[in-house]
Amino acid sequence: MSDDLAARSGLPTAYRYLLEELPRLRWHEPQVGETARFWLQMHGHFRHQTQAMTRVTSGWRSGTLSLPDLHRQLIPTLQGFLQHLDGHHNIETHRYFPMMRQLEPRIGAGIDLMDRDHDAIHAILEDLFHSGLAFHQAVMGHAATAPDAAARMAESLDRATPLLARHLDDEEDIVVPLITRHADRFQV
Ligand SMILES: [Fe+2]
Ligand SMILES: [Fe+2]
Repeated sequence: MSDDLAARSGLPTAYRYLLEELPRLRWHEPQVGETARFWLQMHGHFRHQTQAMTRVTSGWRSGTLSLPDLHRQLIPTLQGFLQHLDGHHNIETHRYFPMMRQLEPRIGAGIDLMDRDHDAIHAILEDLFHSGLAFHQAVMGHAATAPDAAARMAESLDRATPLLARHLDDEEDIVVPLITRHADRFQV
């Protein structure tokens, strides 16, 4: 089975030993500190934003939301989402992942996988950015093609959402127990 983001249905077994040490059921315990909680909060924010965007694109597809309303409700969320997710991945890839590789060499290949996920997601976000921009420009220019542009953007969002959801879950399964195991190095 391929470990690629689009092909996998969970974190591969080889990288689950940290999660076995600290299963999700125990993530509410006080030993799970600030840094891990903040990470979960950020991921929760991204999940919330994708849900909100999917809600409005579904509303437009089913006819309960007009095109101008779709534009008004979606574009600010999309902008914030793309910007924050890009910043989040940058900090992970350049600051936290190298530190985690050093602290926990056994998880190195798992971190490599998370980095590859970031590359895959980056390509999807580029696509979402361009389709979002095309939609925005079509609406602003009162173009007859605006509904087509909206449809393309909604499809782009449909492609991005499950992949991002997979990455967020799998990354949490590594980083939350890892941060907790090496809590002294992640004091805020
Ligand atoms: Fe990530
Ligand atoms: Fe993340």
